[in-house]
Formats: sequence, C-alpha cells, structure tokens
Amino acid sequence: MRVLVTGGAGFIGSALVDKLAKNDHQVLVIDNFSTGSEKNLKEAQEISGVNLIIEECDIRETEATKLIADYEPSVIFHLAAQVDVRASVTDPLTDAETNLLGMIRVLEGARTSKTEKFILAASGGTIYGEPDSKLLPLKEDTPWNPLSPYGVSKLAGGLYLETYSHLYGIKGTTLALANVYGPRQDPHGEAGVVAIFAGKLLDGDPCTIYGTGNQTRDFVYVDDVASAFVASMERGDGHLLNVGTGVETSIQDLYKEMALAVGVDSEPEKGKERPGELERSSLDPSLAKSVIGWEPQTNLREGVENTLEWFRSKRETGS
Ligand SMILES: NC(=O)c1ccc[n+]([C@@H]2O[C@H](COP(=O)([O-])OP(=O)(O)OC[C@H]3O[C@@H](n4cnc5c(N)ncnc54)[C@H](O)[C@@H]3O)[C@@H](O)[C@H]2O)c1
Repeated sequence: MRVLVTGGAGFIGSALVDKLAKNDHQVLVIDNFSTGSEKNLKEAQEISGVNLIIEECDIRETEATKLIADYEPSVIFHLAAQVDVRASVTDPLTDAETNLLGMIRVLEGARTSKTEKFILAASGGTIYGEPDSKLLPLKEDTPWNPLSPYGVSKLAGGLYLETYSHLYGIKGTTLALANVYGPRQDPHGEAGVVAIFAGKLLDGDPCTIYGTGNQTRDFVYVDDVASAFVASMERGDGHLLNVGTGVETSIQDLYKEMALAVGVDSEPEKGKERPGELERSSLDPSLAKSVIGWEPQTNLREGVENTLEWFRSKRETGS
C-alpha cells in the first residue's frame, strides 16, 4: 500500500516507518528535520530500498500539499508537529502554525489525492488536562480540558480530521498517546524523562527529579505505539483511542527502576516543582483493544532495558 508518514524521521515516526517497511508498504516520509534525523531512517532504508522516499519538506509550506497530492497515498499517518508543551506556552503562534495550519495543509493533500484513511498522533497527556484522580485511568469520554496551546492545537487537529471525514469521506482515527519512551528518543527533549535519565545515568551524571517525585505518568513503549498506528490502518474509523498502558508509574519509581538496571545506587537530586505539570496521568487502553485489537505488549522493565541498550550501543558506535 502507498502510505505517507509526516514526521517520519522523528522518534515515533521512524519506529512506525520501520514497521511499515517490514510489512512491504511503499512509504513517503515528509519531514523538515527540525527535531528528526535521516539517521533514524537508516534501517528502514536498508529494508525498503526504492520503496522508501524521504522528502525534506515543511508542512507549513504549500509545497507539502502538492507533494501529497502527487504521491496519492491511500493512508496518511500525521505525526509532524511542534511537540514542546512549554514552547507552545511561550510561542503559541509557532505551535499553531505547524500543529494547526500545517495539519490543514496535510488534510488538503489528503482531500486532493482522495486518501482513504488519515491517522493523527494526538496527546492523551494534554487534551484531558488534570481531571479528578478518581477518573484514572482516563477513558476517552473524559471531558476535554487542555491546559496549554499544544493541548488545544492537538485537540483542534482531531476536530479538523472529524470535519474532513464528514465533508469528504476521509476515514479518520485519532490516537491519544500517553508518555511514549524508547530507542531514538531525544535525551535533550522536553518530555522524554526516560531518555533524559538514560543519558545521565549512563554518563554517570546525577538525575534531577522536580517536585516530590510522586507525580505519575503512563509510560508506553514506542514499538507498541507504532503497532497501534499500524492497527488503525484498517480499523478504528471515527474513533478517538487512548494509546497507553493504564498503569501509573511515579517519577521516583521510574528512577529506581532505571538506576537499578544501570547499577547506580545514588539518590537523585531534587529540583523545584515545575509550574503547570500534571500531578497524575494514565490512560485506559481498553477501547483500543476492542476497536483495533491493540494492547501494549512491553512492560516497563523490558522497555527500559531495550532503551538503555540502545543508548549504550549508540555510545559505543559513536553514532
Ligand atoms: N513522545 C510522546 O510522548 C508523545 C506523546 C503524545 C503525542 N505525541 C505526538 O507524536 C508525534 C511524534 O512525536 P515524537 O515524540 O516522535 O517527536 P519528534 O520531535 O521526534 O517528531 C516530530 C517530527 O516532526 C518533524 N517536524 C516538526 N515540525 C515539522 C514541520 N513543520 N514540517 C515537517 N516536519 C516537521 C520533526 O523534524 C520530527 O521528525 C507528534 O505529533 C507528537 O505531538 C508524542
């Protein structure tokens, strides 16, 4: 099948491209390489050869719509985004330029090329805000309450997709991702606490926990997330689906797990609580199980081991 992955050179996008390549799909990647890298696509290039096309293109440019229209993908996975929540607060216009206007350009490409299915990467950690903790793990009918421009732009992207489905018959699925972690995550990124801890623990540097360390997140492994995108190709039309584990892990416990795996016995440093951070977060994945047959396969221990292994081999090869 001919498919397009926007943001395919990024952390999650490249894991998805790997899977699509293994399944013999013809893949076009559109990426401006602002946070992604062509290095992330090396394995997929080796598998796919000419069946993988990589175009450096910014979805804020009209050229993106034309590229999509010319390629005529049957399925579009839309992952290209401004992904920094705090940057969206300081610079909401830049956030909206990519996450809203850029997304509309991709949708216009889908409309022009009569794309059958559009799958959007949304953010379960931001669209629901901080609801009553009795509701955890959150289901998809939790009222929306985005607390940042990033949360609003991701939510609005889902609404645009619904509208394009009604107007033009493009089938759509929106995946509300929990805290994704795994190989290729940027240790300097804003959201990737697993990658940040991995980098620091392997370098022998101290890790900092901001606030009490009791704040919780739902860590879902990147390969499982890529499988959820693939499972949505043929199913899940018209649905918003949580892609999480339903398990809450505190940052303190995450540190303990990772420090143990690396063989470090020092305590983390304490930093001041950061304003605007959620206290608790976890997403119920049961709707995804019944609608697209997806459930997470990788537990935290296994996922952390794989992630540390990837960081170690990256250091050894200097890549
Ligand atoms: N990582 C998470 O925990 C998480 C959680 C919820 C949702 N998401 C969503 O998943 C998607 C992928 O996130 P990620 O963690 O892989 O981040 P990432 O930064 O690694 O990937 C984003 C990709 O989009 C590209 N990109 C950014 N702006 C672009 C533009 N204007 N034009 C073309 N390409 C552009 C980047 O170069 C990068 O390759 C995003 O839509 C993000 O909002 C991620």
